[in-house]
Amino acid sequence: MPEKVVFEDPRGEGPPIELEKFELDASLPDYELRARKIPDPDPHYVDLGMLYRFAQLEWARRSGAEGLAPLHVALRGHMGTGKDHDIEQFAAALGLPYFRIPLTGEVRDVTLIGSTQLHGDGKGGTESRWQDGEITRAIRGPGLVNLSELNAAGAETLFALHGLLDRYAALDLPTGETVPLRDDVRIFGTMNPTDIRDYAGTQTLNKAFADRWVIWEKFFPGEDQVSNMLHRRYPSLKDAYVTAISRLTVEINASFETRDAGVRVETPLSLRTVLERIPAGLLIHARDSDPLRRTWEEFVLPQVDAYDRDHYETVWNAVVRRGPSEPPYGAGTPIP
Ligand SMILES: Nc1ncnc2c1ncn2[C@@H]1O[C@H](COP(=O)(O)OP(=O)(O)O)[C@@H](O)[C@H]1O
Ligand SMILES: [Mg+2]
Repeated sequence: MPEKVVFEDPRGEGPPIELEKFELDASLPDYELRARKIPDPDPHYVDLGMLYRFAQLEWARRSGAEGLAPLHVALRGHMGTGKDHDIEQFAAALGLPYFRIPLTGEVRDVTLIGSTQLHGDGKGGTESRWQDGEITRAIRGPGLVNLSELNAAGAETLFALHGLLDRYAALDLPTGETVPLRDDVRIFGTMNPTDIRDYAGTQTLNKAFADRWVIWEKFFPGEDQVSNMLHRRYPSLKDAYVTAISRLTVEINASFETRDAGVRVETPLSLRTVLERIPAGLLIHARDSDPLRRTWEEFVLPQVDAYDRDHYETVWNAVVRRGPSEPPYGAGTPIP
């Protein structure tokens, strides 16, 4: 019997969704590689709603309802909103090997789809042989493929993927071979929004390509969501710090999204800054008279462009001004 996994709706609205996990067949030719690629569940992961929505779609697909075609989800959101992490954690939950394949400008069609290469034939001559690219290799067995930065992909790559993503559900190789979309392959994508900020090398998604995806927005987390994530990952971090960091995050990101160029910051406060850099700074500067301020100066401000610092400081002054005076972490956490 396959193992089961239950997805709960974090909003408390929908019913729990129970799904059978995928099982890797040990007789697969690349079983070892695929088994290694199943991600570990992140004990600090907090579902802000996306994992549950993925589960809803997966449930619909498996429901047997007549007429439904497989749908592919693309998450659109700014850097550090947790897009890749959601998709990776879905692969972990379902027990699927995870292939994250960036489509940034420099990767060419041949890297993704494949190419014909010359090999020695052992008799002093050469022969040409087809070699799978990253996407082709990934979809030849069970797996979840995350095509990250969809809107950075070149035209030739998009074209090659059209057939895979629509009713045809297969990838045509230049060799004449057709690689069908297997029942145990899931395709996801991520992209940055191009509306309010430019990301180098990205463009608005080609309409025909965009139409092949379900596009869901990944927004910046709210104050409670940031607090939840900090509490989960750093249980001994004091409430005063959690509150201050959560408010700074929400306010900086609101300034990022504002249309008013006078107060707008150009760099959001990403989840990497909030969940990785700031907690490390607080640990290192635990004995400082103002650990949060010291951390802000050493682990946050250097992250942003010089012209952005004033706006960051405006938010700091409005939200915190002086950080908490107590040590950041409670008992059990080492002190320098
Ligand atoms: N829902 C979440 N719960 C806990 N940590 C998260 C969550 N989402 C993201 N993170 C953390 O934030 C970091 C950045 O997330 P990532 O998915 O790489 O962002 P994006 O792909 O949107 O740039 C991850 O390495 C992870 O540690
Ligand atoms: Mg990412």
